[in-house]
Amino acid sequence: ADYQTILVEAKGAVTLVTLNRPDALNALNSTVLKELIDVFAAYDADDGQRCLVLTGSEKAFAAGADIKEMADQGFAQMYASNFFQGWEKVTATRKPWIAAVAGYALGGGCEVAMMADILIAADTAKFGQPEIKLGVTPGMGGSQRLTHAIGKAKAMEMCLTGRMMDAAEAERSGLVARVVPAADLVAEALKLAETIASMAPLAAIATKEQVNAAYEMTLAQGINFERRLFHGLFGSKDQKEGMSAFVAKRKAEWTGR
Ligand code: HXC
Repeated sequence: ADYQTILVEAKGAVTLVTLNRPDALNALNSTVLKELIDVFAAYDADDGQRCLVLTGSEKAFAAGADIKEMADQGFAQMYASNFFQGWEKVTATRKPWIAAVAGYALGGGCEVAMMADILIAADTAKFGQPEIKLGVTPGMGGSQRLTHAIGKAKAMEMCLTGRMMDAAEAERSGLVARVVPAADLVAEALKLAETIASMAPLAAIATKEQVNAAYEMTLAQGINFERRLFHGLFGSKDQKEGMSAFVAKRKAEWTGR
């Protein structure tokens, strides 16, 4: 497909998606959303692709939703178009994906990074929800996902002041899985993605469903859900393959079935 705002490369079983609006610090306009929905759906549908990395530039992962696109909209337009509708299609991706953040991840940029299954940061990363400085609030999940990730104390402070959090604080707070030197960010993200891509594909999808269920269910429901998915994998060829390969001391060959 021909995209205007993102670059897409297949690297073996890993799809690398790079936000590419350098003149606007990768601000997320409706074209970016449309193209991301398309590329994530294609990724999910392609049996040959088993992990995806979403990254930006050295200066910015994304400096937010596109302020210039929103500035003149009124309530009726925002409400009628259900502005930001569509991002839930990105979060509905069933296969795992990673956000690799260098530079600014602000507003919608921080919110998209938090939609990822794993967030890794360069030591240059800066996270923030500065919407309050524009007279609004987070609108793509920031007030919820940031609170889940780092707790009320810091989330409330970040959203009410709009201050930025650097990479070290983000790691300390549990927002990111890992911080790496900026020069290694994409290579490290791809290495992590390749590791995930080498796992049994159905088990990877089930794992993602299980962990995400922890945010939607009670503990008892979540544990029951986990166990049922675990049982379900015993209907897969890859469970037989994985366990017989272990016993035979050989490498498993996954079929994704
Ligand atoms: C549209 C943006 C943009 C954005 C930057 N640009 N962020 N355009 N939407 N979110 C544009 C600038 O207008 C400028 O274009 C170019 O990118 C370079 O930005 P500069 O400001 O010149 O760069 P710099 O001085 O290095 O400052 C970087 C920055 C600053 C600190 C990240 O750009 C900034 O504060 N951006 C806005 C951050 C923000 O408030 N994000 C939240 C957005 S609201 P020109 O044409 O002048 O060169 C949001 C809400 C979601 O995400 C839900 C609720 C509505």
